Amino acid sequence: MKKLIIAVMLVAFTFTLAYAADTVTYESKKGTVTFDHKAHSEKMDCAACHEGTPAKIEVDKKSAHKDTCKSCHKKDGGPTKCNDCHKK
Ligand code: HEC
Ligand code: HEC
Ligand code: HEC
Repeated sequence: MKKLIIAVMLVAFTFTLAYAADTVTYESKKGTVTFDHKAHSEKMDCAACHEGTPAKIEVDKKSAHKDTCKSCHKKDGGPTKCNDCHKK
C-alpha cells in the first residue's frame, strides 16, 4: 500500500512539472495577448525562458515588453509591433 501511494505521488509530481496550459491569455485595455506556450515549447527549449525547473513566471506589462517576451522576439524574429501581440 505504501509503495502504491509513493508511486501515485511520483506520478502526480512528474505531471505537475510537465504540465502547463497550452495557451495563456492576458487581457488588457490595449487588446488581448495570446501566448501559445505549447507552440513556443515546440520551437525552443524550456531553458530559453525558464531558469532551472520550469515553473510559473510572472508576466506584467513591464516584463512582457522587455525580457519575458519582446527581447527574444527582437532577437529571434517574433512579433514586436503592438498589434501583433495585442488583438482586439
Ligand atoms: C517562450 C518562453 C517559454 C518556453 C519556451 C517555455 N515556457 Fe513555460 N512558461 C512561460 C511563461 C511566460 C509562463 C507563465 C505563463 C503565465 O501563467 O502567465 C510559463 C509557465 C510554465 C509553467 C507554470 C504553469 C502554471 O500555470 O503554473 C510550467 C510548469 C512551464 N511553463 C513549463 C514549461 C516546460 C516544461 C517547457 C519546455 C517543454 C516550457 N515551459 C517552455 C514561458 C515559456
Ligand atoms: C525565447 C524566445 C521567445 C520568448 C521568450 C517569447 N517568444 Fe513569442 N515567439 C518567438 C518566436 C521565435 C516567434 C515566431 C515563431 C514563428 O513565426 O514561427 C514567436 C511568436 C509569437 C507570437 C505570434 C504567434 C503567431 O501565431 O503568429 C506571439 C503572439 C507571441 N510569440 C507571444 C509571446 C508572448 C506573449 C511572450 C511572453 C509571455 C513570448 N511570445 C515570449 C520567440 C519567443
Ligand atoms: C511581445 C508581445 C507584446 C508586444 C509586441 C506589445 N505588448 Fe503590450 N503587453 C503584452 C503583454 C503580455 C502584456 C501584459 C498584460 C498583463 O499584465 O496581463 C502587455 C501589457 C500592455 C499594456 C497594459 C494594459 C493594461 O490593461 O494594463 C499596455 C497599455 C500595452 N501592453 C501596450 C502596448 C503597446 C502600445 C505596444 C506597442 C508599442 C505593445 N503593448 C506591444 C505583450 C505585448
